[in-house]
Amino acid sequence: MAPRVLPADSPASIAEAVRLLRDGQLVAFPTETVYGLGALALDPVHVARIFEAKGRPSSHPLIAHVADVKSARALAKGGTLGDVGEALAARFFPGPLTLVVEKAAHVPLALTGGGSSVALRVPAHPAALALLEALGAPLAAPSANRFQSLSPTEASHVVRSLGDAVALVLDGGPCEAGIESTVVDVRASVPLPRVLRLGALSLEALRSVAKGAVFEPTSAASRDEQRASPGLDPKHYAPRARLRVVARSEVAAVVAGLLDEGARVAVLLVHDVALPSHVVREQLDASAEGYAHGLFSALHRLDAAEGEGEGEVDVIVAEDVPTLEAFAAVRDRLTRASST
Ligand code: TXA
Ligand code: MG
Repeated sequence: MAPRVLPADSPASIAEAVRLLRDGQLVAFPTETVYGLGALALDPVHVARIFEAKGRPSSHPLIAHVADVKSARALAKGGTLGDVGEALAARFFPGPLTLVVEKAAHVPLALTGGGSSVALRVPAHPAALALLEALGAPLAAPSANRFQSLSPTEASHVVRSLGDAVALVLDGGPCEAGIESTVVDVRASVPLPRVLRLGALSLEALRSVAKGAVFEPTSAASRDEQRASPGLDPKHYAPRARLRVVARSEVAAVVAGLLDEGARVAVLLVHDVALPSHVVREQLDASAEGYAHGLFSALHRLDAAEGEGEGEVDVIVAEDVPTLEAFAAVRDRLTRASST
């Protein structure tokens, strides 16, 4: 059975979502980054249903979404986000930033994966804010997809990935940013603010407030850190088909080779590349923001596409993105999506 889908911008939809959430059911809603799968964050039983629906290990902590900075502070130890956290919140909440702080005592371990820290975010989407305000309580919300699969940037992606494990999907159209929030650890125990997950808030914007913010690539992350923040897992965001990322100059030859082997091939491009006309393709914007906005929707379409011959696509060949820092977050998603 498919879940119910209602327009996100109607007060009646928000009221129905609140009713279902209070009843312990899961509701997917749009944010400015990706769709979230919501449940009451302070109720361990409700939160457990998120892990079950996603097929995600319960040791992986969830983000608590709140309506404003004040509600964020209420979930933090000592009622403050700390110096750096407060400065970042003042500048970027609401927005695509998630802050990791020490948790207040009443925040359940079911939410935090058993750890003493909690991740907090104020989403910028009007429907998400309307929902949080009407609910008057924090919402736990991971991306509304099955564990390790493609992130959902449209309501139909949620329906396809989760089916009736979700009671209601609030449809707000395509998400603006298209990739998840940037996760930053601002705990006092960490010497410099540490970026745990690259995301829709650029490193440049982050550093304009948190001067020394550092990002250490996955390869440098220790096992303990990986456990602490599963967003660092190498395999994530993966399509069903195999994804291969290759330089622009090699796309045509790689596609020809795969077609010779009898593979069903689809292609994700930024630039025009001469290819056999029957090869299914998607072309993304050349700007980092435009690329991020379109990335997951394009991958969802290609992953579902019928290739040359019978059946679904076996391999998606993606043209690599520039090595500029502005592309760090989309490069991260591409790399993980292609990791097996
Ligand atoms: O944009 C987003 O952040 C979306 C929308 C729905 O808000 N949500 C999202 O949630 O991406 P999820 O659960 O798919 O990713 C949460 C990320 C993971 O990388 C997780 O490891 C990290 O945040 N995280 C959550 N709590 C943490 C904590 N206490 N310490 C370290 N990392 C944490
Ligand atoms: Mg996710």
